[in-house]
Amino acid sequence: MQTILTGIRANEEPTLGNFIGAYKTMINLANEHAADSRVNMFVPDLHSFTTPIDHSKLYAQVIKGVKYYIAAGLDINNPNIHIYRQSHVPAHSELAWILDCFTYFGEASRMTQFKEKSEEHADAITVGLFNYPILMAADILLYDAKYIPLGEDQFQHLELARDIATRMNNKFDRELFTVPASEAEQVKFMHLEKGLRIRSLTEPTKKMSKSSTNEKSKISLSDDPEVAAKKIMSATTDNEGVIRFDMVNQPGVSNLLTIEAMMTDRDIQDVIADWAGQTSYGDLKRKVAETVKNFLSDFQAKVAAISDEEAEAVLAKGETYANEVSKQKLAEVQRAVGLIR
Ligand code: TYM
Repeated sequence: MQTILTGIRANEEPTLGNFIGAYKTMINLANEHAADSRVNMFVPDLHSFTTPIDHSKLYAQVIKGVKYYIAAGLDINNPNIHIYRQSHVPAHSELAWILDCFTYFGEASRMTQFKEKSEEHADAITVGLFNYPILMAADILLYDAKYIPLGEDQFQHLELARDIATRMNNKFDRELFTVPASEAEQVKFMHLEKGLRIRSLTEPTKKMSKSSTNEKSKISLSDDPEVAAKKIMSATTDNEGVIRFDMVNQPGVSNLLTIEAMMTDRDIQDVIADWAGQTSYGDLKRKVAETVKNFLSDFQAKVAAISDEEAEAVLAKGETYANEVSKQKLAEVQRAVGLIR
């Protein structure tokens, strides 16, 4: 059975960018494949403090993260669908250490996210931040996952996981790990033309980022729906005066068209065709603002209806599964590297 796996960190409030790039693509794939694939949507809580956070809030954020998965439409009654916390499955950390010893300092140093985040947090560049992609590789390789729905910014980390898996398979002369599919195959599997990158509403050449301190640049999943609609209405566009999909010259307008298509489950080409030649950016913004407002109202009501106990019960079930599967894989690796017979 093939495995589809992804995780979304819980340290900051996820944005509409996360929702479109990871939640939505994962849930669409779960609906399409869960009958004959394993679908693992876990909470990478150990990845949540590679940069400083308020630790008194972490536990509650993790539980909220689980509610978000369920509210976004993950079918928790399907026996092939699993939700678990990375921290509650010790094999993740144990495998990460072993993978550390098969990852070169030079290749880990090339990770763009590490370089960007170390600039943002120049006063606290931790070894955890540096090791982040290696723990991510362990998250993936422990379950022999082939498809990993991710936004465009994470493909470099996936490539590293592929490199580590290939290196260890060669070194130990066996198929220790399933090598995850390439970026091109992942994109095709997600029914996309290219990796998703939702842009900042205020600076549409940059990605929408949950760590941005400019509230107007992003829509958080907990935003008041009216406030979110206002943010869309004041999104930066351009002076071209005609609605076209052109990420280079009209990134703001193109971003709005992408959000509209993804949030209404429509083909981007159909949405582009609907708006072709129209000149009112106000009309486009009103339509997207309405879509986002309705989505947030509905989503937040669903989140509020899930109790902490329900979320914890889902985790307990998922963690039993994850510990069983990951222990076996960890033992195979321990055997290969000579730690056990
Ligand atoms: P995180 O929480 O930083 O991001 C979660 C997901 O959201 C995607 N994303 C976006 N997609 C489109 N447009 C954007 N503006 C945008 N911003 C973020 C990210 O690409 C990601 O898919 N390292 C992972 C967490 C993780 C993980 C794993 C994922 C840890 N271990 C193993 C898969 C498999 C991350 O970036 O989380």
